[in-house]
Amino acid sequence: MSEKNSSKQITVAVIGAGSRGAGFGRHVAALPHLGKIVAVAEPRQDYRKSFAQTHRLPSKAVFKTWQEFLKKPKFCDAVVVATMDREHVEPAVAALNKGYHLFLEKPMSVSLEDCRRIEAAQRKAGTRAAVCHSMRYHKGFNKIKTLVAGGSIGKLVSVDQIEQIAFWHFGHSFVRGNWGVEGKASFSLLAKSCHDLDYITFVTGKKALRVSSFGSLSYFKPENAPEGATLRCTDGCPVEPSCPYSALKTYVNANRQEWPADVVSHDHSAEAHLKAIQTGPYGRCVWACDNDVVDHQVVALEYEDGVTATFTMSAFTYDIGRRVTLHGTEGEIYYDEAHNLMTLKRFAENNVEKIELGAERGGHGGGDARALRGWLQAIRDGRDDLILTNVQESLKTHTIVFAAEKSRKEKRMIELKEM
Ligand SMILES: NC(=O)c1ccc[n+]([C@@H]2O[C@H](COP(=O)([O-])OP(=O)(O)OC[C@H]3O[C@@H](n4cnc5c(N)ncnc54)[C@H](O)[C@@H]3O)[C@@H](O)[C@H]2O)c1
Repeated sequence: MSEKNSSKQITVAVIGAGSRGAGFGRHVAALPHLGKIVAVAEPRQDYRKSFAQTHRLPSKAVFKTWQEFLKKPKFCDAVVVATMDREHVEPAVAALNKGYHLFLEKPMSVSLEDCRRIEAAQRKAGTRAAVCHSMRYHKGFNKIKTLVAGGSIGKLVSVDQIEQIAFWHFGHSFVRGNWGVEGKASFSLLAKSCHDLDYITFVTGKKALRVSSFGSLSYFKPENAPEGATLRCTDGCPVEPSCPYSALKTYVNANRQEWPADVVSHDHSAEAHLKAIQTGPYGRCVWACDNDVVDHQVVALEYEDGVTATFTMSAFTYDIGRRVTLHGTEGEIYYDEAHNLMTLKRFAENNVEKIELGAERGGHGGGDARALRGWLQAIRDGRDDLILTNVQESLKTHTIVFAAEKSRKEKRMIELKEM
């Protein structure tokens, strides 16, 4: 595609105006030279209404579902699909078939077959599609890619990365929340760490050959509940005052406008949040939920040219964010996202250089906003290079995630060519 019209404002519809969709709406609104929100599809009335009000949408541009929206003749240039994991494939394929440019939340979908359907639909449509792998655009992780590609540590030999999910985040999202039950969302490696396997592959610049993985749900199970714990934090639980997972602390006596507290209710009064935890999923004891996804997992990878990588995903961390060390023939790069600390250690000079990154603003180190901006610019200026994760690229790295999960379940090493 080579169209170039730098004065054009890309018109965008948001499908799924929940937590992420509303955020993308704000990112587009902050880029008026590039894009404009012109429609929404969202079943939850409060969320639909506030999104429509924020973006001053006329009633003819407000839809209850993606099905309703996509039934109409093509309405605008592009769509953002930010529905839940299991509701990505159908709106994504239908939107591509209608000729929309697509910004798709990760994971592409919850099965490899469906990811392939999206990739095939995009190839046929020829529109510009990006998958929101915000790590590639994250200030710190993007800097590492530049350093490695520029030869700062010689030839990259191995990567060690850990995703520190943070105990409270795991409790919120992967025990009580949307991603606790695989059958309702996806397995944790796909939901949480498809970013990590995507990034590790991106930074190595190599093709993955084989993978092994181990992990389990070890802690958030009824047998680990502290003695006397009640089914809900609000049932007079004797453990609640000292419990790190107290729903009262996390959702009521917290900044209720901010994530994760804001997720439990559209109305952010203390009364509404209290009611939400007395009746809804977020007030359940973390040892008495229906969760079944693993709370820790390790992955070992071999890439071409003998490059290796290890990845750990853990719920049991104080910090939230990734830590990564990249080992090269001439040096090492270390990055601790939580403390915004990056160092470059060069063997020949025998020194440690601190890499200044500056303050990080916005979700995922500014990665969400940059990913969206890159996609809008790519559409407007006909620049495929501004999309760091197109669907072909994302399909490759999703395949590694599915292979790792297969390895964990089947207790054997998986050759990527098997997939
Ligand atoms: N890129 C990242 O780093 C990142 C971070 C968090 C979440 N995510 C992904 O973003 C997606 C959305 O997550 P979220 O936290 O915003 O979830 P959410 O539940 O807040 O939002 C999903 C929205 O989709 C709406 N929806 C359901 N059925 C619909 C339909 N038929 N038509 C239109 N809308 C419909 C829901 O009402 C809800 O408002 C998930 O797939 C999640 O995995 C990505």
